Amino acid sequence: MPSQLTSTKPIHRIVRESDGEDHTLHRSLSATQLVSLGIGGIIGAGLFSLTGIVASHNAGPAIVLSFLLAAVACGLAALCYSELSTMIPVAGSAYTYAYATLGELVAWIIGWDLVLEYAIGAAAVSVSWSGYVVSLLHQIGVPFPTALAASPFELTTLPDGSTPGAALVNLPAVVIVSVISLLLMLGIRESARFNSAIVVLKVGVVLLFIVLGAFYMDPANHVPFLPPNTGRFGEFGWTGVVQGAGVIFFAYIGFDAVSTAAQEAKNPAKDMPIGIIGSLLVCTVLYVAFAYVLTGMVHYPELNSPAPVALAIDRTPFGWLRMAVKLAIIAGFTSVILVLLLGQSRVCYSMARDGLLPRTFAEVHPRFRTPWKSNLAFMAFVGLLAAFAPMSALGEMTSIGTLFAFTIVCAGVLVVRRTQPDAPRPFRTPLVPWVPVLGIAANLYLMWGLQVETWYRLFGWLAIGLLLYFAYGYHHSRLAAGPTVPPPPVADA
Ligand code: ALA
Repeated sequence: MPSQLTSTKPIHRIVRESDGEDHTLHRSLSATQLVSLGIGGIIGAGLFSLTGIVASHNAGPAIVLSFLLAAVACGLAALCYSELSTMIPVAGSAYTYAYATLGELVAWIIGWDLVLEYAIGAAAVSVSWSGYVVSLLHQIGVPFPTALAASPFELTTLPDGSTPGAALVNLPAVVIVSVISLLLMLGIRESARFNSAIVVLKVGVVLLFIVLGAFYMDPANHVPFLPPNTGRFGEFGWTGVVQGAGVIFFAYIGFDAVSTAAQEAKNPAKDMPIGIIGSLLVCTVLYVAFAYVLTGMVHYPELNSPAPVALAIDRTPFGWLRMAVKLAIIAGFTSVILVLLLGQSRVCYSMARDGLLPRTFAEVHPRFRTPWKSNLAFMAFVGLLAAFAPMSALGEMTSIGTLFAFTIVCAGVLVVRRTQPDAPRPFRTPLVPWVPVLGIAANLYLMWGLQVETWYRLFGWLAIGLLLYFAYGYHHSRLAAGPTVPPPPVADA
């Protein structure tokens, strides 16, 4: 194999080069803002809709254990992300770590794979956002033309149960993708502030549901806590708990996006682990409490509903909480889209900086200090997907893409401990090799549980990526050009 594909770049060189060239990205994020970005990316569709599905199909009240299992798989990956993000505090996350540890080819594959997590994920969530907003508009007497609220290739069911029929375009989804992309172009500080406001709202409503709902739980609903297996794999019993963890994994996606902002953190050595592990811990506690209260309020077979939380609220005298939850869901989806698009633009920026994508995407806006051309490119790409693609078919792609990236990050820790044992490590993953090895096993296991079509799509996507790499990146990369290649252009002030 040509050495360009496998040769890696020493970590100190990546960090030095990026400090020299990329000083225009703004180091302004505090630890609290990083935790908030993580929570902003995590709490969304997973909590509000998948909880009901997993409780009624797979685990019953033991969905609490599914949440804990998925949190362990994510926690192992989070410890590995923390080590690499403090060693290499540069934008790009898993892509950059692979570039430093496993070579250009694997880095390209991971960068290409991350499009599944960030861009496809953002498109899928924007379509759900559109469904909730249209339903809210209907509720307050502002009908929105249904032909403009869904992809022409998808018969969508809105959260209120209505089916809009054949449509032309999903306009609200395009609007939210565009507005968030423009905000991201305006500045990381502005984006982080907007995200923090949304996080306060959605965490507030989740806490309100937990505290108020706890008074309306019926202990009988938690018996049996682990319903016996029906005889089929994944239908209750322990196999149900494990299968449920695979589905509910989607609810945790987002904490890793914190690492894409490493180059914009004020003090990455200290704050990256706080942002990554802290947001995961907060959300795990909220998720477990939320699932316990929800299954205590409604008997699990009844949770097989498009709006399981509304069902639980109907068992209380707090009708207004229904509207609050709907607003929290819309707010939650908004911050998930923001964090995913933020992550995508930073990965694209890093790949362009290394010459694997056209260099123009590595330009930083002279005033806003954001990689605005990356934002613009993904505003167009994600906007088009959200407008026309049947996103419900692609939702699982986000999970498989993320699990693949987690696996590579865990492997990256093992490799870098061998190849660069003396490099400074502000955060050390504990119990190496056990934590990364268990992380790889747990994430591969969750991937194995996904549908076979999802695997085919992953292979198809990676094959397209390889074609593109050999058509473009292989010839234009900085490794191909040698050490004298000039830095990417910076726009005039
Ligand atoms: N974790 C995010 C959600 O549940 C992707 O919407």
